[in-house]
Amino acid sequence: MVSQMRVPIAAGNWKMNKTVKEASAFAEAFPGDASFGEVEVIICPPFTALVALANAWQQTPVKLGAQNMHWELKGAFTGEISPLMLSELGCEYVILGHSERRHIFGEKSEAIGKKVHTAFCQNLKPILCVGETIEERESGKTKETIKEQLLLGVELLESEQAKNLVIAYEPVWAIGTGKAATPEDALEVITFIREELKNKFGEEASELIRILYGGSVSPDNVYDFVNHPQIDGTLVGGASLDPTKFGKIVVQTEKAKT
Ligand code: PGA
Repeated sequence: MVSQMRVPIAAGNWKMNKTVKEASAFAEAFPGDASFGEVEVIICPPFTALVALANAWQQTPVKLGAQNMHWELKGAFTGEISPLMLSELGCEYVILGHSERRHIFGEKSEAIGKKVHTAFCQNLKPILCVGETIEERESGKTKETIKEQLLLGVELLESEQAKNLVIAYEPVWAIGTGKAATPEDALEVITFIREELKNKFGEEASELIRILYGGSVSPDNVYDFVNHPQIDGTLVGGASLDPTKFGKIVVQTEKAKT
């Protein structure tokens, strides 16, 4: 019952992959005009491919997301992208706090929290990523890490805004390694995340927040994650670059959730 209130998601994070030409070839091969049933399909390409994909998938249910943005709307921030610029291109979602942003580019949870808040104010829905490193997991600090990233990430939100939030639990050690978490491990952390969200925003809002798993998701393992009512979908890196594989992930998600 509860899961039916939350529309399942299959989201692709292309990271720094695909030129405009390559993105257009993907759009041609990906069945954007087919029905995805219940599943909300989101592709997050590099900024440079957003216009081409918005045009290619006009009149289709495929939604677009960005992979990052700044918390200010405009100004002297060389190299940054404003939420206004993303909305103008038809972006509906934005990934914030991805582990590569945190660990390679040094983004801090406080800054991510400002971005999450600005995104909502500009009608973009954030996909807030949280996840522990292998060192944190092995030293028993998984929940502590997740709690810190989560609570600072949502710190500035009201319950009404939080209802539209998407969280992606992505253990750092599972990203791009081919070693996905087990569905049981993912479930344990996702249950913890929902509990923390309930403490902060109350039961009604927390039951509406969609929580995804990410980290080496493939057509072969996706079903075992999304088959659980508490896991509302996946955020997919490598496998989302291939239209056939990503199409299978959407189909498996649809199958598990209906
Ligand atoms: P992966 O990446 O599916 O290639 O592990 C997931 C992500 O970083 O969002």
